[in-house]
Amino acid sequence: GKGGHRHFMAKEIFEQPQVIGDTLSAMFNPTARTITLPDLPFDPATVPRITMIACGTASLAGMVGKYWLERHAGIPVDWDLASEFRYREPVMTEGGLAVFISQSGETADTLAALRYCKQQGQYCLGIVNAPESTIAREAHAVLPTLAGPEIGVASTKAFTTQLVVLACLTIALGKARGALDHETEARLSGALTEVPSRAAEVLNHDERIRAIAEETFVPARDVLYLGRGTSYPLALEGALKLKEISYIHAEGYAAGEMKHGPIALIDEHVPVVVIAPSDDLFEKTASNVQEVVARGGKAVVFADDAGVGRLKDLALETIALPAVDPFVAPILYAIPVQLLAYHTAVAKGTDVDQPRNLAKAVTVE
Ligand code: M6R
Repeated sequence: GKGGHRHFMAKEIFEQPQVIGDTLSAMFNPTARTITLPDLPFDPATVPRITMIACGTASLAGMVGKYWLERHAGIPVDWDLASEFRYREPVMTEGGLAVFISQSGETADTLAALRYCKQQGQYCLGIVNAPESTIAREAHAVLPTLAGPEIGVASTKAFTTQLVVLACLTIALGKARGALDHETEARLSGALTEVPSRAAEVLNHDERIRAIAEETFVPARDVLYLGRGTSYPLALEGALKLKEISYIHAEGYAAGEMKHGPIALIDEHVPVVVIAPSDDLFEKTASNVQEVVARGGKAVVFADDAGVGRLKDLALETIALPAVDPFVAPILYAIPVQLLAYHTAVAKGTDVDQPRNLAKAVTVE
């Protein structure tokens, strides 16, 4: 059942503190504060390169993973959409690791990409939610997301648990390669253990986000989402979520790209969602908010208390999320973005759990 919620999507959004914790517990040792992955069929210390492949929301988790692995594990990471990758005959580094992210484990393009990578002699690692799926079976190794069944077509808890697995993979590879000193490892894993309780706090903003959705997003024809660094894939994810369930046109942009075109779209009719956790890019994002507001745009800012303090006079709306280590911000900032899409769709009266033209698993290309 829907656990007292109106839709599976709402139930699945609210399950996140629990399933994030479950996924983490499978890999995290709380006493030693270390991450232990199952035995992997490759040597993490010597993997020369990673290729991250998936579709849709799973691909956006992969993009966050790319940013994390490059920064904290010092490994070059290529990122690709499975539907592009599989037809390009990409050149692959010998002994490389290919990571396939999929909730269903049955997505046709992702599976085809996995088969190609196997032929190219890559170690194939699946990050999969359905343990009996084809991708789980055909991969050399699997790191499971323990999200439980996801029924809503819009991916929510699958996404955040994919992020948790990628965060653990980042810490484990960073350590194996000597890219993380002990102190940083402890800081990153400490930040991860806090995520379930912080996620529960974020869910307290549900009512407020519903009000903002009804007032500002339901009437909109177009919406922009902006972010930098790991908040850029979150901007893409926010736009994807809004499009697929509310049918409002939305685009995610790297905030630094605004001046290269999209700023021309801004006027008083366009809500602009800004994902701005306190990190080393915050000030840059803050100047983008200024530019948006100067052109009449309606900025809706997700930030922590410090960020809200800095931007509240400029923005139309601000939501103050808990202050967290920037490493885990993408996991937490996924939640308000999901709630915003959810409440907008509910208010518009669309079929939230089964949006038109979409299937839960895309098993044909
Ligand atoms: O089952 P998968 O994770 O392989 O599915 C990938 C995409 O089809 C999926 O994430 C899709 O983009 C969602 N409907 C987005 O909410």
